[in-house]
Amino acid sequence: MLVLGIETTCDESGCALVVDGKIILANAVASQAHLHAPFGGVVPELASRYQIELLPTIFKQALTEAQVSLKEIDLIAVAKGPGLIGSLLVGLNFAKGLSYSLKKPLIGVNHVEAHLISAKMVHDISLPAIGVVVSGGHTSLYLIHSNLSYTRLGETQDDALGEAFDKVASLLNLPYPGGPEVEKLASNGDPFKHRLKVGQIKGKPFDFSFSGLKTGVLYLIRGQNSSQKEQSKKELSGSEKCDIAASFQNAAFSDLVQKTFFAAKHYQCSNIIVGGGVSQNRALRQLFKEKCSGIDCFFAPPELCLDNGAMIGALGYHLYQKRRQGDLWDLKPEPRLSF
Ligand code: KG4
Ligand code: ZN
Repeated sequence: MLVLGIETTCDESGCALVVDGKIILANAVASQAHLHAPFGGVVPELASRYQIELLPTIFKQALTEAQVSLKEIDLIAVAKGPGLIGSLLVGLNFAKGLSYSLKKPLIGVNHVEAHLISAKMVHDISLPAIGVVVSGGHTSLYLIHSNLSYTRLGETQDDALGEAFDKVASLLNLPYPGGPEVEKLASNGDPFKHRLKVGQIKGKPFDFSFSGLKTGVLYLIRGQNSSQKEQSKKELSGSEKCDIAASFQNAAFSDLVQKTFFAAKHYQCSNIIVGGGVSQNRALRQLFKEKCSGIDCFFAPPELCLDNGAMIGALGYHLYQKRRQGDLWDLKPEPRLSF
């Protein structure tokens, strides 16, 4: 079954052609990051306008790369949420138009669930397993019972991990998106230079809290009692910045890995699956492998970690196999869709 996967939840336009949820014929993605960089983050109104411009081009690119024609598409899968309402509307209406004109079924999928299953596209992973999604909008831990059956064990109470990376990057005057920039600095810093604390939620061992950690970084940079708006008084040297980035990254990742490992032990799972943009980080991959003895940790390849259409196509395929029917054309975008 040839599935077209469409991803437009935020500032990436993605179109992919995927066979049977596994074989990727094309996975074209246009990032708008450089267009939002001057604003230090995604501007929702601009994101939806650029989606309108970029999506048709990316769609044609995917068809050309895959060397397939429109009529060969069997199913159209689209991310229906969570995400920015304007961006979601662009993808959904594009998908509906195609579904109507090609007379092919349409299926709406959850973007976070797609991140969770993306590593399964390339690895055979036995279930049950513990899954963790770490992206710009989400940080959640799941028990994956079987294909398409999950229990959410915990989630962040405030900032998502990627969001914390982006905010710390901005405090360090690094460009948006900040995750890869912080990773670069951290690779040259001392992760044990500063003792930074990560929030723990009483009675909820699988929940996360990163806002205090971010404030800890703010204090390191600008001193106690300063607000984020205040101008930095002292200029940090290059090596001081590296040490702060490394200490932040180490504190955040140690907490994430420890809680995920604890969940795997608690639920007697011998596999851990990690997905979402932050899972691209090499230090995180390394830490999972080092700290989770006796447990196999699986990651998607980098191009499937960040937002992309292939993971949407793969999830759409599995959902369609289960339900044997698509959604109606009145499918609504769900900006706050939970998972
Ligand atoms: O999954 P994703 O593409 O979009 C969302 O669904 O949010 O994740 C984007 C997030 C951004 O916050 C970005 O800074 C972060 O992933 N990110 C990273 C790295 N690459 C991307 N964070 C840490 N280290 C990285 N190498
Ligand atoms: Zn995402």
